[in-house]
Amino acid sequence: MPLIDWIPSYNIGIPEIDTDNQQLVGMINLLHDSISKKDNHEIVNHVIYQLVQNYQDHCTLTLQVLQNIQYTNLTQQQESHKKFGRVISGYLHRLKKDEKVSIMELIGFLRNWFDKHVLLEDQKIKAFLKQINNTQTETDITKSHVKTIKDSDIFQLHNNKMDGQHKDLANIYNKLYHAVELKMSKKIILKIIDTFKHYAEIHFKDEEQLMIDVGYDQYKEHLILHNKLLKEFDKFLIKINEDETISHIKILGYIRNWLLNHIAIEDKKVFAFISSQKKENSHA
Ligand SMILES: [Fe+2]
Ligand SMILES: [Fe+2]
Repeated sequence: MPLIDWIPSYNIGIPEIDTDNQQLVGMINLLHDSISKKDNHEIVNHVIYQLVQNYQDHCTLTLQVLQNIQYTNLTQQQESHKKFGRVISGYLHRLKKDEKVSIMELIGFLRNWFDKHVLLEDQKIKAFLKQINNTQTETDITKSHVKTIKDSDIFQLHNNKMDGQHKDLANIYNKLYHAVELKMSKKIILKIIDTFKHYAEIHFKDEEQLMIDVGYDQYKEHLILHNKLLKEFDKFLIKINEDETISHIKILGYIRNWLLNHIAIEDKKVFAFISSQKKENSHA
């Protein structure tokens, strides 16, 4: 019998965070199932190493995603993560000194973390996201959660061409933002969205060519994400053109989140791949 059953309402709607939290529940359940096993210290050690390994990635990813949605409780999240980090590195330290960590102690700590962090802290993100989505009915952009994109919001890949193109996309987004802010005509809004889409197409082609050139292993997955965005733009254009009720602020929010998260998570992976290959080659 698992100690914790993952139920859909635990999901906060950010896949990266939800997957990590589910994985954590998996570990807690594994530990719980192993309480009566004789050699359960091996499982305890395994879980501790796994936690240490996942910790940094989870923190970096959460920070990026939350910064991009301009989450207001960011410091609280970070503080809570830091505390977690201190405890698990304490466990690791004990293992390295050949001291045992008891299975009950580890379960107790993780269960407590699950109750306080996953069920309380992370749920606040869910409420925040809901609030952002309510901008559907908001017509004054300055009162909404949607903002312009500053240079410092964009994750830098340290590739002049790609960073330059991302900046150009952000500039077109900012133009759209101001057009919505000044309640400009439908014709102008459509034109800017169309410009964004065309520029995105050019950028995607360049980025995809780069991925082919370096033999990027997740090329297909990345291509799907690019095409999905372009399709989404077509939907926006049709809806606005046909005067369907679609909030311009919501479209802006969508573009902003997509762009910043895509660069910081997906494009970053491409460049991590490229630099790992460079290292391999220099060792060869
Ligand atoms: Fe990109
Ligand atoms: Fe991309």
